[in-house]
Amino acid sequence: MTLDLQAVLSTAKTLGREAGATLMSHFKNPLITHTKSSSYDIVTQADAEAEALILSALAKSYPTHHRIAEESGESGVQADYHWVIDPLDGTVNFAHGLPIFSVSIALADANLNPLVGVVYDPVADELFSAVRGGGAFLNDQPIHVSRAITLGESLLASGFPYDKSTDPDNNLNQWGKFLIEARGLRRLGSAALDLCYVAAGRFDGYWEAKLKLWDFMAGILIVEEAGGRVTDYRGGTGTSMIQGARLVASNGHIHQQMIDVLGK
Ligand code: IPD
Ligand code: CA
Ligand code: CA
Repeated sequence: MTLDLQAVLSTAKTLGREAGATLMSHFKNPLITHTKSSSYDIVTQADAEAEALILSALAKSYPTHHRIAEESGESGVQADYHWVIDPLDGTVNFAHGLPIFSVSIALADANLNPLVGVVYDPVADELFSAVRGGGAFLNDQPIHVSRAITLGESLLASGFPYDKSTDPDNNLNQWGKFLIEARGLRRLGSAALDLCYVAAGRFDGYWEAKLKLWDFMAGILIVEEAGGRVTDYRGGTGTSMIQGARLVASNGHIHQQMIDVLGK
């Protein structure tokens, strides 16, 4: 039996909103419970609660599907379908009371190609969504990437990895180059929202390295369905892009210019 992707979308939207409500219930009083890869890589009680809510609902609705979620891990498992979940993308913002964070939920096929993506910003009540081949939406209204054709007229976004102080591959070099070339640079602190803002035409492009599957799986589908382009730093797509986790997302027009800067 083929999977009903509209039903999957509906489930993902509901869970995005429910997890968003969980995050909001903690936002005024966030509790950091532990750190992970480095002292900068924090986890709050809200991350854990939102993830538990999503995972238990998916286990009931889609028991045969595999689930990959940030706080519980698990990848590299063979399955026909993988749910890829970041219950709170933008934990550092959240823990500091900065209202820029999101819930990201995607369903991907056996090769980790995203089929359905939902990113929900509970502060702005903005729900970005896409189903492969069906266009991209913000609160059910169609969205499209921007028309900028040069870096000089582009507003770009990026981010920095948690091992920034121990590995020189920390994006400072690339940030410096784009700072000179682009109209402006922003570091929002939620990769999923960075991608959705490219899809909505708010940003013209975005690049970031050392991302995890849950940071980008929903967002890359939303960018592509909004008419944009997503590749790795060399223009590659598919499995190599996803495994390398060095992403460039853009409106398409400035894509090669971004790759040229990244290759300098
Ligand atoms: C982080 C955010 C941030 C990006 C980091 C991610 P988290 O996710 O998306 O914008 O720069 O690379 O790890 O830890 O808040 O879920
Ligand atoms: Ca994340
Ligand atoms: Ca997270």
